[in-house]
Amino acid sequence: MYKCAIILAAGEGKRMKSTTPKVLHKVCGKEMVNHVIDIMRIADLSDINIVIGKGADKVKESTRFRDVSYSYQDKQLGTGHAIICAKEFLKHKKGIVAIFNGDVPLMRAETVKKLIETHENNGYKCTIVTSLLNDPTGYGRIVRREGVVDKIVEHKDCNKEELSINEINAGIYCFDIESLVKSLDKLNNNNAQGEYYLTDVIEILRSEDNTVGAMIVDYEETMGVNSRVELAEVEKILRNRINKKHLENGVTLIDAENTYIGADVQIGQDTIIYPGNAIEGKTVIKENCVLYPNSRIKDSIIEQGVSIQSSVILESHIGEETTVGPFAYIRPESTIGKHARIGDFVEIKKSTIGDNTKVSHLTYIGDAEVGEDCNFGCGTVIVNYDGKAKYKTKIGNRAFIGCNTNLVAPVEVKDNSYIAAGSTITNEVPEGSLAIGRAKQKNIEGWVDKKGLKK
Ligand code: UD1
Ligand code: CA
Repeated sequence: MYKCAIILAAGEGKRMKSTTPKVLHKVCGKEMVNHVIDIMRIADLSDINIVIGKGADKVKESTRFRDVSYSYQDKQLGTGHAIICAKEFLKHKKGIVAIFNGDVPLMRAETVKKLIETHENNGYKCTIVTSLLNDPTGYGRIVRREGVVDKIVEHKDCNKEELSINEINAGIYCFDIESLVKSLDKLNNNNAQGEYYLTDVIEILRSEDNTVGAMIVDYEETMGVNSRVELAEVEKILRNRINKKHLENGVTLIDAENTYIGADVQIGQDTIIYPGNAIEGKTVIKENCVLYPNSRIKDSIIEQGVSIQSSVILESHIGEETTVGPFAYIRPESTIGKHARIGDFVEIKKSTIGDNTKVSHLTYIGDAEVGEDCNFGCGTVIVNYDGKAKYKTKIGNRAFIGCNTNLVAPVEVKDNSYIAAGSTITNEVPEGSLAIGRAKQKNIEGWVDKKGLKK
């Protein structure tokens, strides 16, 4: 059967107290709406439409790589109205539409698959994901008659008896497309909030003798985020879930409570991670790495056997068995070779560093291509910027750069050459030569005595 999905993401989320639309708040480094899209994709829902309104441009921008279509809801007149705004998307379609609130990032893909199965196998016109809560405050209540789902009543519209119902609507549903579209015309906004509720479709379907099903799932999966407090709760739950997955896969986390791993990060077996690490975006860390405390690694590939301490690595590639830090800063588009060393207070920007090259201390390398087996003395600076433009530096293999050298770009240092400590290099250094670019030392004998400075 044909299946598609709609995500409701037009609301502003007033209770977040934010200029960022609610669904763009991140949980474990990923926007809530993108969590929902990714969950749907894993559950084989590929045709996805997002209803946007408040902050529409921002939501579009943040979802642009995920191959989704959009519907617009100019005024946020309720979740039912949001689906009316997506009518174009549903037009001429037959089959199932899964509808998700954009603020439920903890739903599992297996649960969504199960929801679709339950829906299909029972011939329901609508199947609702529900949950049993001790404190159902704020949620829509599932009203059953003789055990069968009859309607959903929003918290603000509940009578006393309905308020005591603890089965709630998670805001995740499957609908038969044609039945849904027909019901939309019958929605009204005669309720406490003056909104068109999607949840009223259930009562409409029931009044026409259709059956509606419910699938009760664990509360955790259905948690909707409406405030920063809930955002923090959800963050913690997802962090635990992610960390547990890595532990089960053979990664050691010394203190899982204080290790921050993004939802899409991959980590190889026998890697050991100390507390205070934040590993973000699409980072891949291969086997047998050690991440000592307090690094941030974003969108990078770390090959096996790498060790990293208290450093920042952004959008870069680190080769096998290389060591980084403490206190190194590797900026985007850098590639570090195998068995290399990027030591303390070293900044690498948009540069390539070859295998076995050592940049051990207090050095800046920017816009450079550095070969293999080089050694950088302490305090080397690549002078890549003249105040107007940036220039490239090329260093061959097996070069020895003495301490406190300035390499004024554009410049090239050829293979097997040496640069004397304290040099400022402005011209090419030929292969196999020694370059000295500093004033010659002069000693003035007896100067101290002559000046009467002897102590
Ligand atoms: C909704 C449900 C409630 C359920 C709860 C679960 C309705 C009427 N109520 O309530 O039964 O228990 O979710 O979390 O559906 N949105 C729009 N356009 C609008 C209004 C909302 O796109 O005009 C979007 C929001 O961006 C959000 C989602 O719909 O992603 C849910 O809206 P929200 O205001 O959070 O609904 P709840 O009051 O939580
Ligand atoms: Ca909500």
